[in-house]
Amino acid sequence: MAKLKVAVLISGRGTNLQALINACKDKDYPAEIIAVISNVAGAKGLERAEKAGIKTYVLEHKKFASRDEFDLALHDLIVVTGAEFICLAGFMRLLTPGFINKWENRIINIHPSLLPKHKGANAHHDVLAAGDKETGCTVHYVTADMDSGPIILQSDPVPVLSDDTVETLSERVLEQEHMVYPEALRITAHKYRRH
Ligand code: GRF
Repeated sequence: MAKLKVAVLISGRGTNLQALINACKDKDYPAEIIAVISNVAGAKGLERAEKAGIKTYVLEHKKFASRDEFDLALHDLIVVTGAEFICLAGFMRLLTPGFINKWENRIINIHPSLLPKHKGANAHHDVLAAGDKETGCTVHYVTADMDSGPIILQSDPVPVLSDDTVETLSERVLEQEHMVYPEALRITAHKYRRH
């Protein structure tokens, strides 16, 4: 069966992208990354993609007058790459409902908390501020409500230690992210190809 053609959207270092790239090396993995798109020029993740022989694209949001215009260009670019599915992997831009509707059930994201707890960009900080004893990560479908779409997979609980900082906690959660994201894409790709 043909592999699901995936575009991965990034903004930064791309360690989750790397985990997906590694998973895709398995000939039985049901997805392949055909494009990596960054909204930030020079993002470290672009190098990872190039090293793996994956086509990279930079689409800088700064160069667009509005969010809508950026998202229209992003949509067109993804269509041109031939991707049929999108993974957000540290893509630090909110997508407009117009964009999300066009890719309904075909965009997934990884978030560093056990959703529905601690949505938003400061999850680790919020976990620490709340005094939670455990956290983790979640892969979910992207819907117009941020970090609220149907959950595909969550990690086992990750302990929060009394002396944790955002840095130490994020490192511990990141290890789980690198296992959970490839597994979630595997599940999703199998499901998608059956439809
Ligand atoms: C990860 O913690 C992910 O959960 C969040 O952004 C971070 C991206 O890290 N959405 P990386 O670029 O994949 O290393």
